Amino acid sequence: MAKEIKTIGVLTSGGDAPGMNAAIRAVVRKALSQGLKVKGIYQGYRGLLNEEITDMTARDVSDTISKGGTILYTARCSEFRTPEGQDKGAEICRRHGIDGLVVIGGDGSFAGAQQLAARGINTIGVPGTIDLDIACTEYTIGFDTAVNTAMDAIDKVRDTSTSHERCSIIEVMGRNAGYIALWCGIANGAEDILLPEKFDFDEQKLIDNIIRNRKRGKKHHIVINAEGIGHSTSMARRIEAATGVETRATILGHMQRGGSPTCKDRVYASMMGAYAADLLAEGKSNRVVGYRNGEFVDFDIDEALNMQKNISDYMVRVSKAMAI
Ligand code: ADP
Ligand code: F6P
Repeated sequence: MAKEIKTIGVLTSGGDAPGMNAAIRAVVRKALSQGLKVKGIYQGYRGLLNEEITDMTARDVSDTISKGGTILYTARCSEFRTPEGQDKGAEICRRHGIDGLVVIGGDGSFAGAQQLAARGINTIGVPGTIDLDIACTEYTIGFDTAVNTAMDAIDKVRDTSTSHERCSIIEVMGRNAGYIALWCGIANGAEDILLPEKFDFDEQKLIDNIIRNRKRGKKHHIVINAEGIGHSTSMARRIEAATGVETRATILGHMQRGGSPTCKDRVYASMMGAYAADLLAEGKSNRVVGYRNGEFVDFDIDEALNMQKNISDYMVRVSKAMAI
């Protein structure tokens, strides 16, 4: 029989992402509207282990839907990777009457949620990361805002790159995944997109492409380089030496994680947060919320963590065709 849930907790973990506040707000208000109590846990699993736990009312999430970052703060916590840390986390949940927990974060955070579920705390994961690197879902909270922020910044670099007839290497985030790079590459009309999933580290091909495009009359050469490949500054030096084309590197960095969430991030994050609260109210545990084929769905965390996701070859081919 499903365990009856009276009080749920909510935390954000790993890198922050715009839209996390919309998800927190939705968890809080959907749970309260169903008669559950809600506790906010500050600073992810670190705050759980330090018992930084507070009661949350509907007013505590007022004026948050349009804000970037996370009002609950976030952290990475090595102690929680240990069985002792996980035992302590489950015990603290029990002591505070938290019988269900929503964890907003990425795969690492879900692995933590899985451990709490194994220790009798009902847990639900909500995918929050700008990287889009969670296999069970086509959408993750923050990706849309991050690519729009990066796209605007890259447009600006492109203006000056054209004026000076330069090559510009622009490095975007994404950890080991190339989704931000691929989407920006297409959105910004980049001449080259370097993806960790595809790059063979043959810089000569890149150099040949820059020289060929110069001959075709292109005034700039925009290279979007994914963080997973990195080394943009030294790459710029090598390219300039080999091509004679003035080359600059720009690393966009953490600006991609901030800012007011887009409409899509506000709406999808709200839906996912509400969906997670519903799953807990139904007594479900060890699930992760996803978005697939136009629907909000949920998967077993063990299954979700074993899924694979591949970057679309068709998108890559289209991006190359657009760069002639
Ligand atoms: P993300 O959730 O974005 O993938 P991390 O991989 O940094 O980010 O994970 C966030 C936190 O989740 C870690 O600091 C740690 O506290 C917890 N965590 C990560 N992996 C595990 C694991 N295998 N078991 C338990 N907890 C984990
Ligand atoms: O996972 C989100 C992300 O921004 C990645 O794109 C990046 O690799 C990482 O977090 C950066 O982490 P930190 O904020 O610890 O530098």
